[in-house]
Amino acid sequence: MTPCLTFDVYGTLIDPSDVTRQLRALLGDQAEDFYLRWRDKQLEYSFRRGLMGAYVDFSQCTREALAFINASAQTGLDAQTQTQLMDAWSQLPAFADSAAGLQQLQQQGARLYAFSNGSRAAVSALLEQAGLADYFVEVVSVETVHSFKPAPAVYEYLLSRTASQADATWLVSSNPFDVLGARHAGLRSAWVKRSDRAQFDPWGLEPDLQVASLVELAKRLPD
Ligand code: LAC
Repeated sequence: MTPCLTFDVYGTLIDPSDVTRQLRALLGDQAEDFYLRWRDKQLEYSFRRGLMGAYVDFSQCTREALAFINASAQTGLDAQTQTQLMDAWSQLPAFADSAAGLQQLQQQGARLYAFSNGSRAAVSALLEQAGLADYFVEVVSVETVHSFKPAPAVYEYLLSRTASQADATWLVSSNPFDVLGARHAGLRSAWVKRSDRAQFDPWGLEPDLQVASLVELAKRLPD
């Protein structure tokens, strides 16, 4: 059977930390810390909204997280600057290994899907401008389920879109919570450890594979 590989988007295919470039011009040395707090808060908001059953577009989680961190860090970014920072999320670049890894995996006969908290429209446009859109059969978004990763329902929905069995479907992600969510839902999963500092949660549920890049994934993925 053709292997079915599904890819997380933000942090796995596409590099959201690129917004730090813009933040550096505004906040200097605080930029990296601000970005890390923004990203954590964005995800926290998605987790909380998933639990509450209070779904909104993922971009609203991102925007509200920015407003929160701006207030708590007292950085004083005005509304126009916040809008410009939000716009940067639609212009993020691919990681250097993304295209080469996806190309090799496609040549090996895998069916590739993007799978994200982001809306289908936002993720499709993002992958298009980053030059990755053509590798995918489809962009699958949690928006149809009105919940967020790692709710089991979103992985079940993913399986229905890919028409594949859980144990024959891989979720590839740099986000440990996503890898754990997929493993919990019965999928196989590869953790892309994109930085030396990245750490996996000690929950006793391990990724099936750990790699440093998508090129390494293409070499090591079992047949
Ligand atoms: C995504 C977030 C989790 O792309 O990064 O789904």
